[in-house]
Amino acid sequence: MQTTIQTISYERPEEKRILKACLSTWFQNPKDLNLTDPNMKYPFRFETWVKRTYSKQDVTSFVAKENDWIIGYIGIFIVQTKMAGHLFHLFTDPEFRNKGVASSLIKHAESFASEGGVINMSLNVAKKNDRAIRLYSHLGYEPAGTASSGSFIYSKRL
Ligand SMILES: CC(C)(COP(=O)(O)OP(=O)(O)OC[C@H]1O[C@@H](n2cnc3c(N)ncnc32)[C@H](O)[C@@H]1OP(=O)(O)O)[C@@H](O)C(=O)NCCC(=O)NCCS
Repeated sequence: MQTTIQTISYERPEEKRILKACLSTWFQNPKDLNLTDPNMKYPFRFETWVKRTYSKQDVTSFVAKENDWIIGYIGIFIVQTKMAGHLFHLFTDPEFRNKGVASSLIKHAESFASEGGVINMSLNVAKKNDRAIRLYSHLGYEPAGTASSGSFIYSKRL
């Protein structure tokens, strides 16, 4: 597979339009929506998604592309004062899973964060999301507690 990773922005109208089409297609299944963000309600509302998370500063989004077609997504929030990064909204198009897309997105986000001085990366994952937990563990993430939402917190020193 010829997968490339690119930054994408909700600030740029054309990219926002593409994100809306892509995410609305992926998140038709409420189960998938819960996996990525337990607070998001079904049906998926793109404007709520943007307002809740992407109107903040220091949030960057990356997409994985195959022949110019978006097949994966990840967001990262960086708290510069703490030299900490937080990964969220990781999703791979179901047709492209188990091919290393999520791993590439995570590694790309880690490099981006590391270059910006981040030394500790964290993420939340639903307790039942065995597939994601196995992936994070293989990439060096370790259990670091439980969030108020009940999800596991995993973290890694970059
Ligand atoms: C969890 C999720 C993001 C994983 O995405 P993915 O692109 O399939 O992940 P990867 O392909 O990078 O890794 C999955 C497995 O495939 C393996 N793999 C990687 N490259 C591979 C290749 N070329 N051939 C075969 N297997 C490969 C990886 O080693 C990994 O195995 P492991 O879990 O035993 O470590 C995806 O299932 C998903 O979108 N789920 C729904 C949303 C979700 O749960 N998001 C996480 C929220 S915390």
